[in-house]
Amino acid sequence: MMISVGVQKLLIVSCLLLGVLSSTRHEYAQGHIRDRDNLESAATIPNETSLTPEFFPSEGSKRTKISYGPFEVPNMNINNGMISHFTLNIDIGCKDCIVTWMQAGLEYPDGSYANANTSLWLHHTVLYNMNNLDTVCGANVQGERFFASGNERMEVDLSNSGTNTAGYFVGANDTIGFLVELMNQAMENQTAVVTITYEYIPGHPTTFNEITPVWLDIGGCSTSEMPAKNETTFQYTSPVWSANVTGRITFEVGHIHDGGTYVQIAENNSTICDSQASYGQTPGYVDPSGSMSMGAGMVSPMSNMGKHISSMSKCTNGQLNLGDELSITAYYNTSEYEAMTNTDGSLSSIMGIALLYLAANETAASTTGATPTTSRAVSSSSTGAAAIVTTGPALVVGVLSGMLALGFA
Ligand SMILES: *[C@@H]1O[C@H](CO)[C@@H](O)[C@H](O)[C@H]1NC(C)=O
Ligand SMILES: *[C@@H]1O[C@H](CO)[C@@H](O)[C@H](O)[C@H]1NC(C)=O
Ligand SMILES: *[C@@H]1O[C@H](CO)[C@@H](O)[C@H](O)[C@H]1NC(C)=O
Ligand SMILES: *[C@@H]1O[C@H](CO)[C@@H](O)[C@H](O)[C@H]1NC(C)=O
Ligand SMILES: *[C@@H]1O[C@H](CO)[C@@H](O)[C@H](O)[C@H]1NC(C)=O
Ligand SMILES: *[C@@H]1O[C@H](CO)[C@@H](O)[C@H](O)[C@H]1NC(C)=O
Ligand SMILES: *[C@@H]1O[C@H](CO)[C@@H](O)[C@H](O)[C@H]1NC(C)=O
Ligand SMILES: *[C@@H]1O[C@H](CO)[C@@H](O)[C@H](O)[C@H]1NC(C)=O
Ligand SMILES: *[C@@H]1O[C@H](CO)[C@@H](O)[C@H](O)[C@H]1NC(C)=O
Ligand SMILES: *[C@@H]1O[C@H](CO)[C@@H](O)[C@H](O)[C@H]1NC(C)=O
Repeated sequence: MMISVGVQKLLIVSCLLLGVLSSTRHEYAQGHIRDRDNLESAATIPNETSLTPEFFPSEGSKRTKISYGPFEVPNMNINNGMISHFTLNIDIGCKDCIVTWMQAGLEYPDGSYANANTSLWLHHTVLYNMNNLDTVCGANVQGERFFASGNERMEVDLSNSGTNTAGYFVGANDTIGFLVELMNQAMENQTAVVTITYEYIPGHPTTFNEITPVWLDIGGCSTSEMPAKNETTFQYTSPVWSANVTGRITFEVGHIHDGGTYVQIAENNSTICDSQASYGQTPGYVDPSGSMSMGAGMVSPMSNMGKHISSMSKCTNGQLNLGDELSITAYYNTSEYEAMTNTDGSLSSIMGIALLYLAANETAASTTGATPTTSRAVSSSSTGAAAIVTTGPALVVGVLSGMLALGFA
């Protein structure tokens, strides 16, 4: 996920400089082109679908799935099959509303499922509120980044399944920017439709607290893309951010690329969350050619070959106070999981991001419905990451390290 549009454009240019085709990947991708996509049929797809809301029905909540596109994604010989679009002022289904839940998806124009198993990736998408400043980076980035998704398509569950009366407020006159980068690993162009499902409450019920998004990034405020290191295990740590807002954390989740194992979020040098990557949990996250799909020269255990990140674990508790020092560390182990490569076989750049959502000005003690965990929770990390410690009476931290099962079907 890029943090600014300007940087994104630079990256597109840099992608143009890459380009030699790996014949291995060429052959494997070729057998899996689907018969699809012409823009005429795309024009008939409904762009907004009403769904049944899951949280706060007594507040008149609504859930809507909005389709953006269609986008033609060039084949893997052109810019590594990557294409990027930025749209200013998209429709997110509501204005003057409290958004409680969001999740991105990727489809073909006929509504069928697109993913690594069809050689089409939702590399990342980001939503920006152009009327607000980013809490961490201020005017150094464009707008306030309040939603992001990689191909793992994690739900962003701001109310933690309705247990917090909190959500992200979108004002009547707010302008929302939409960035998407799509990746095609097939030998033919493909056409994709990006979907984002929003659940929201119209208006601003006084009992609901506004959510402040906090974006922490190993690239700081200048870029979200860092070079993969040559070592098979490596890590990157973000700059330290000294909190200038307070709030109760309702939701936090990390984002890394293939080869990554987890994102650790630290507050005053104590781990408050390990967001763990899981790979290949559904057939959509396994290459069409399965274990045969490795780029030339890669060495990796057979069991994880051809598998891609399919979910990141979330955390749902914590407290941020003024002056708290926050940082994240992204961990990679490319001998455990295959790293992403460019079409020429070189290592792709990697990311390490965590998004924290704060119920602004709330403290854990004044929670409006949640039942915070009162003692530490132990991470289920197989990589031995640190558990949680509570460091003060106001700090109530728990970690929910269970994997989110993604029901893609
Ligand atoms: C594939 O996409 C590229 C880049 O947009 C375009 O130049 C080319 O004409 C497309 N090929 C086909 C067969 O549509
Ligand atoms: C959906 O379609 C309507 C009618 O064509 C259009 O006004 C609206 O902008 C579209 N919304 C999106 C999100 O594309
Ligand atoms: C926190 O810092 C950011 C970045 O410098 C700034 O834009 C924002 O206004 C600050 N927030 C408060 C409440 O001071
Ligand atoms: C939104 O813009 C309209 C027209 O400029 C203005 O009348 C209204 O007061 C604005 N609403 C808010 C909440 O700023
Ligand atoms: C990895 O090794 C290559 C070849 O020695 C070198 O050009 C490149 O800069 C190295 N990358 C990093 C991130 O150190
Ligand atoms: C965190 O650790 C660093 C390095 O040891 C130290 O400089 C810093 O003061 C620590 N921060 C806090 C809040 O303890
Ligand atoms: C891709 O995987 C999904 C499930 O994750 C499955 O429903 C779909 O049929 C698969 N598509 C192909 C072309 O194998
Ligand atoms: C974290 O460290 C900062 C700076 O030393 C301090 O102001 C803050 O109270 C500490 N927070 C907690 C929860 O201990
Ligand atoms: C990296 O993964 C390999 C293969 O699973 C494993 O043997 C090794 O211990 C891991 N390294 C670290 C630092 O976790
Ligand atoms: C949080 O408190 C600060 C300082 O009192 C205030 O300026 C700000 O508007 C509050 N934020 C929210 C979302 O209530």
